[in-house]
Amino acid sequence: MTTLHDIAEQIAKCEKCPLHYSRKHPVPGEGSSNAKIMFIGEAPGYHEDRQGRPFVGASGRLLEELLNNVGIQRQDVFITNVVKCRPPGNRDPEPEEIAACRPYLEQQIDIIQPKLIVTLGRFSMQRYFPKASISRIHGQPKREGDRIYYPMFHPAAALHQPRWRTALEDDVRKIPELIAELESATADNSVDQDEDDQFEQLSFF
Ligand code: URA
Ligand code: SF4
Repeated sequence: MTTLHDIAEQIAKCEKCPLHYSRKHPVPGEGSSNAKIMFIGEAPGYHEDRQGRPFVGASGRLLEELLNNVGIQRQDVFITNVVKCRPPGNRDPEPEEIAACRPYLEQQIDIIQPKLIVTLGRFSMQRYFPKASISRIHGQPKREGDRIYYPMFHPAAALHQPRWRTALEDDVRKIPELIAELESATADNSVDQDEDDQFEQLSFF
């Protein structure tokens, strides 16, 4: 069975798109394979590329702070990006790069089976809310089966625009309600544990 670790190893060797030329470190994502919440950002930036970890710069600090405010700890969730290698100069990822990288994200989702997928910014939103405008649909959950997709502004955008920061804060504040809704829907479902779990099984927070 493929594990998150296997996927990270494949990413480390990956040359499927031109982003591999300039990366210092690939950034596969991190968190529990048992996480109920998965955050999908856009692409690694400067600090992420240096450290090989997602959301460790200013955007990451804001995200972590807002999550902590509603009782969610970083280690309880899984955090990754649409592309796993940094675009030079933090340019937008190209559609071909997103497509080339997509199977890694899909495999991560298959393994983790998150109940809530939070998209950060429009590149992440696009797959689940095609053609939508983020300023219109942010904060509006979409339920499909027993999973909720929840679009939010990217924390980097929130750092530049006070209006979007307020929107991001408001949207984060709704996450506990969404979790409560999912928990009551699946109250008696037990959760499979993978052999490679690095963390104890956690409840939502
Ligand atoms: N912005 C992102 O989209 N992802 C990161 O990992 C860091 C900043
Ligand atoms: Fe491979 Fe994704 Fe990195 Fe492109 S961004 S080289 S597809 S891991």
